[in-house]
Amino acid sequence: MLLVGMAQAQQSDIEPLAIDAAIEQTAPIVPQLTHFMGREIAQTMHFTGAPWLVRESRQREEDCRLLLDALAIQPGQTVCDMGCGNGFYTLELAKLVGPRGLVYAVDVQPQMLGFLARRAAEEHLTNIRLVLGTPNDPRLPKGQIDVVLCVDVYHEFADPETMLAKMRESLSVGGRLVLAEFRGEDPTVPIKPLHKMTKAQVRAELGPAGFECNQEFDRLPWQHLLFFGVRSEP
Ligand SMILES: C[S@@+](CC[C@H](N)C(=O)[O-])C[C@H]1O[C@@H](n2cnc3c(N)ncnc32)[C@H](O)[C@@H]1O
Repeated sequence: MLLVGMAQAQQSDIEPLAIDAAIEQTAPIVPQLTHFMGREIAQTMHFTGAPWLVRESRQREEDCRLLLDALAIQPGQTVCDMGCGNGFYTLELAKLVGPRGLVYAVDVQPQMLGFLARRAAEEHLTNIRLVLGTPNDPRLPKGQIDVVLCVDVYHEFADPETMLAKMRESLSVGGRLVLAEFRGEDPTVPIKPLHKMTKAQVRAELGPAGFECNQEFDRLPWQHLLFFGVRSEP
């Protein structure tokens, strides 16, 4: 497994990882936004909360298997689990793309990537590339990703406009950006309002960034699942 950009991380108790020394370790300039297009930006979920992401009840509450089915991932594809956390979805994506495919797992917290590395090693998955992103640069290759998946992460982006531009650049021809966000319109979804989004808000933010929604999947218990392609210029 290759780790990009984690020169200073504590790696002593995880498997040996190759480091791409070419990545600059300069601190990114991130605008200190509290709001974006009228929406309050949520705090990043801290890595100490990682056990919640792999809680036993998650399948029942969020129907994660249905979410994965809806993605229709094909063997051999290159996909990105953006804001991968401790890899709940990364490991499943790695199995779906198979040995000829590749999963870029991006997070801004090296601790999350450490947890993921350990879990991937336990499952002998070698088609995962760990990437330590910055709040405004996911450090993805350009034009190569078939699906960028953001599960419960977009609302945390500190610099959504730049992240959208970078994710757009990373997509292959016909590639798609997929957002899963807790439904902001639905008071029965037991998640704090700051961590939910409405469909209208998602569309309002992604449209000006050059994305158009070309599929909606409405059968998840708590989340919207919205598929976006890159809008062809007029
Ligand atoms: C609520 S967790 C979701 C984790 C995972 N997607 C899941 O569903 O299990 C959000 C994750 O997004 C990460 N994150 C926040 N902003 C990010 C950014 N700009 N680039 C990459 N990851 C980011 C956080 O560090 C955190 O691990």
